[in-house]
Amino acid sequence: MKIYVCENYDRMSEVAANYVAAQITLKPNSILGLATGSTPEGLYRQLVEKYNKKEIDFNDIISFNLDEYLDLPKEDVNSYYTFMHENLFNHVNIKEENINIPEGNVDDIESYAMKYDNKIDSSGGIDLQVLGIGNNAHIGFNEPSDTFSRYTEVVNLTPETIEANARFFDNEDDVPKKAISMGIGTIMKSKKIVLIASGEEKAQAVNDMINGRIDPKVPASILQLHEDVLVVLDEAAAKKIDKKLYKKI
Ligand code: PGA
Repeated sequence: MKIYVCENYDRMSEVAANYVAAQITLKPNSILGLATGSTPEGLYRQLVEKYNKKEIDFNDIISFNLDEYLDLPKEDVNSYYTFMHENLFNHVNIKEENINIPEGNVDDIESYAMKYDNKIDSSGGIDLQVLGIGNNAHIGFNEPSDTFSRYTEVVNLTPETIEANARFFDNEDDVPKKAISMGIGTIMKSKKIVLIASGEEKAQAVNDMINGRIDPKVPASILQLHEDVLVVLDEAAAKKIDKKLYKKI
C-alpha cells in the first residue's frame, strides 16, 4: 500500500485525478471502477477540467460503478445514477452504452447482481478502481460484517451509514435502507485501486484500514492484501497514522 498525504481536499483531488488521468492516457480503453459520495466530487471536477483541456479522452472508456440504492427511482436526485451523470458523465464523451451502474429496481436482483459481476469479468476486469471509505471503514456499501462478501449483492445499510447519508435527504426516513453493491471479492479483483479520504471523521477508519488486523468488521482492511493500492489522504484523514508510513505530496 502506497500512501500519499496532501495538504487539503483540493490537493487530494488533484493527486487522485492525475493518477486516474495517467491510467486513461496509458490505456485509453481502460475499464474504470467508479465511486460516489462527497469525497470523489473534486476528483470528478478535475477530470472534467482535464477533458475540457483535451488532456484526456473518455471515448473508449468503460465504467462500472460500485453501488446503487435499492428502491430509489433511477432519476431521483439522490440516486447514484444521477450523481454520476451530474458530476462526470454529462460533461465528458463517455458513451452511454459503456456506462454500467448497478440497477436498484430490477425484479430478480440476485441474478442481476451475478450478471453485473460476469459483465465486469467478461469486459476484461477493472483496470483501476476508485474507492472512498465510510466512517465505519466500508468500501462500496460493504458494511462491517462477520465475513468479507465475495460478489455483488444486496446489502442492508447499517444505522451509521444511513445516518451519514441522511445529509442528502430531507429526512432520515427517506434514506434507503438497502443497496446493491459490488462485493469485496469483486473490488479485490481490480488490477489497481486508488482510495481517497478526506476529513477527521475518516481518520479512525483510515488508521484501522492501514494498521489494524485484517478483519471483516473493518471491510477496508482487506486492501492490505491487494498488491496495487494507492491511498490519497488529506492531512485531517491522516491524523492517526504515523508520518513514517506516508509521503507528503
Ligand atoms: P463520502 O462517502 O465520500 O460521502 O464520505 C464515502 C463512502 O461512504 O464510501
